Amino acid sequence: MYNKFISGLEGSSSVELMLKAEKMRKEGKEVISLAGGEPDFDTPDRIINKAIQSLNQGETHYAVGQGIFSLRERIAEKLRNENNIMCTPENVIVTPGGKYGIYMAIASLMNVGDEAIVFAPSWVSYCPIIRACGGKPIISHLQYDDNYKIKEENIIPYITEKTKVIVVNYPNNPTGRVLSKEEAELLRDVTEKYNLHIVSDEIYEKIIYDGKKNISLASYSNIADRVVTVNGFSKCAAMTGWRIGYTVASAEITKVMYKLYVHTITGLSPFIQNAAIEVFHCDEEIEKMRTIYEYRRNYFVEELNKVEGIECRKPEGAFYAWVRFKSEKNSKKVCERLLDKYGIIGVDGLSYGEQQYPCVRFSFASDMEILRTVIKKIGEV
Ligand SMILES: Cc1ncc(COP(=O)(O)O)c(C=O)c1O
Repeated sequence: MYNKFISGLEGSSSVELMLKAEKMRKEGKEVISLAGGEPDFDTPDRIINKAIQSLNQGETHYAVGQGIFSLRERIAEKLRNENNIMCTPENVIVTPGGKYGIYMAIASLMNVGDEAIVFAPSWVSYCPIIRACGGKPIISHLQYDDNYKIKEENIIPYITEKTKVIVVNYPNNPTGRVLSKEEAELLRDVTEKYNLHIVSDEIYEKIIYDGKKNISLASYSNIADRVVTVNGFSKCAAMTGWRIGYTVASAEITKVMYKLYVHTITGLSPFIQNAAIEVFHCDEEIEKMRTIYEYRRNYFVEELNKVEGIECRKPEGAFYAWVRFKSEKNSKKVCERLLDKYGIIGVDGLSYGEQQYPCVRFSFASDMEILRTVIKKIGEV
């Protein structure tokens, strides 16, 4: 008998679809994959050059500790200035991607049998991570017709004496929603009143449109000690393959998380950490990518809405179009048809826990030419 928490986990549908697209391409089939959650841009040059320079200087040994100090210093400075999170480098752990930060937070906060509230639709990995840690995900389904707004009724009835954590992700994958002040204050009040913790995944923070701003829940001083904020460089700086992110949390929680980290990670490659410092000199490149996503979003969503039977709200952040196929019943079937007949890969809404309507997530982190082709083909569907 293998580990009962891990052996029963479902796979990641977006990763599986990315693998499927790769396989189909190798077989010579024409596929357009809008399944992946990654920028189509290359990592900015100065980051790459710094990694090369660092490698040439022999920065290839263990980098022990929570992350190299100069990087954690820059991260803490950014968090104080941009996110209003009061922290020092001691509160920061540099992780192999945001994903490991989420795992480390959940594993450190929860005991076997504890419950974590997850709002659906949600990113595909939260529930498996919670289960892997012996926890129980309690899914609170937000409503499409409410534009997935979090209300009291979406939290309070789900709280039991076993509730330990609320998982929050804004800008949201897959819906593109950005947290409103009203929702943030509700989460703040509930967290304080019921003595809960929040894992706040803000990985899409820099990809936000129409002048909107991300609200970091750890900026509320009365709950700051109860929030683990997860962020990283994968999405904002087009660094998905580098595997680097970070957590910021209270000294107490950081201490616990570090116990897991030191025995499972040791530390991140120093040349990758050195290169990541350059992200803090890449505001222009990051803003340029954001502007292009915004342009693509405007085109893609506008065109999708011209297609009969389709509805797509303008995402406020991230780079996904969350498309409702109004005359269909099952999003998995829609995706199968799109792939079999038109070679288009999107991720079905059921994978994100959307049960009310058949929705499909398409990434618009793709070239305009590709988006135009997809629009043409979806029109035929
Ligand atoms: C909401 C969300 N959180 C976390 C991650 C993981 O980020 P990373 O690649 O830095 O591990 C992703 C990646 O798809 C994501 O969409």
